[in-house]
Amino acid sequence: VRHIFLGTVIAALLTSPAPAQKIVGGPYVVNATTGNATVAWVVEDSQITLHEPDQQSRTSPALRVEKTTLTGLKPGSRYDYDAAGTHGYFKTPPLGAGPYNFIVYGDTRSRHDVHRRVMTELLKHGIPDFVLQTGDMVVDGDDSSLWPVFFDIEKDLLRQTVFFPSLGNHERNTDYFSNFFLKDNPYYSFNWGNGHFIVLNSDIGNVAAGQRGKDTYWAAQTQWLEDDLERNQKAEYRFVIAHHPPFTAVASRQGQNPHMTALTPLFEKYHVTAALFGHDHNYQHYLKNGIHYVVTGGGGAPLYDVSKPAPGITQKVVSIENFVKVSADSAGLHFEAIDINGRTIEVRYPVKVTDLSARLPG
Ligand SMILES: [Fe+2]
Repeated sequence: VRHIFLGTVIAALLTSPAPAQKIVGGPYVVNATTGNATVAWVVEDSQITLHEPDQQSRTSPALRVEKTTLTGLKPGSRYDYDAAGTHGYFKTPPLGAGPYNFIVYGDTRSRHDVHRRVMTELLKHGIPDFVLQTGDMVVDGDDSSLWPVFFDIEKDLLRQTVFFPSLGNHERNTDYFSNFFLKDNPYYSFNWGNGHFIVLNSDIGNVAAGQRGKDTYWAAQTQWLEDDLERNQKAEYRFVIAHHPPFTAVASRQGQNPHMTALTPLFEKYHVTAALFGHDHNYQHYLKNGIHYVVTGGGGAPLYDVSKPAPGITQKVVSIENFVKVSADSAGLHFEAIDINGRTIEVRYPVKVTDLSARLPG
């Protein structure tokens, strides 16, 4: 009798649907400081299947984040870890002028095969200490089915670095952004070695429904930006990162981001070294009043033209998928833009605050 009972239980266990829990993102590391870092990963618990009249049914995964904050870390150190079935590592920021490097890229939201090719090329050029993502990671931030695709393509990079994302218009101010990347506020700043990095939320279109809400948000963020810049004048370099660029060579998109163009006097007043953007799917570099403005939105989304470069300030504009590598050491900043085929688009070395226009042929 006992055997029959056990057999029935086992049969019931075998036939009842197993929980579909699986890891669909990460592990990845966010919010690293000289003493702390958070390792996180995304879990799919189950799915919902939606049946629409006259349409194929589609599934949406239910996603949640697991995370652990590691404390008591030492500056400038490598830490290996095992999490969510994957081996990974990250480095904490060095103190002072210690050498470091980072990669900037964005607009990975579509053409997943191209995103994958950019990622393959990026990994060939060395693993960066950290990554600045300029936004538009996915085509619709609220669509949970898209995030596992993004995380799958970025998996090898993310398990070996620290990730600092910015919010693009295609994220649509989604809660997934704050949940996955543990950002209470989509605008934030951090220090890495002798650099101070300010990430802005330039997606004013999605912060509030009405104009008054947008204006209030923008005024608060601008005040925060000015305060943060003022407090960090002792850093050797100041970088601003946002999705929407203040200038563009894309003919049909000129003058579309006046809120960002209006910030450039603040960048000048507080000696920003370089401002880094996405949104336009190409490579653009401007030098205006001592500040480098770079658009690197070449992570996979369909390419845009560069047919109307701004006279007088344009350094280089190319319509190609790309990413930008920046290294800081005692000589200054080494800056290289690289295309999807591994070819150098542009090289500058060194770029110092005191010598912003120094240039070697690429
Ligand atoms: Fe965009």
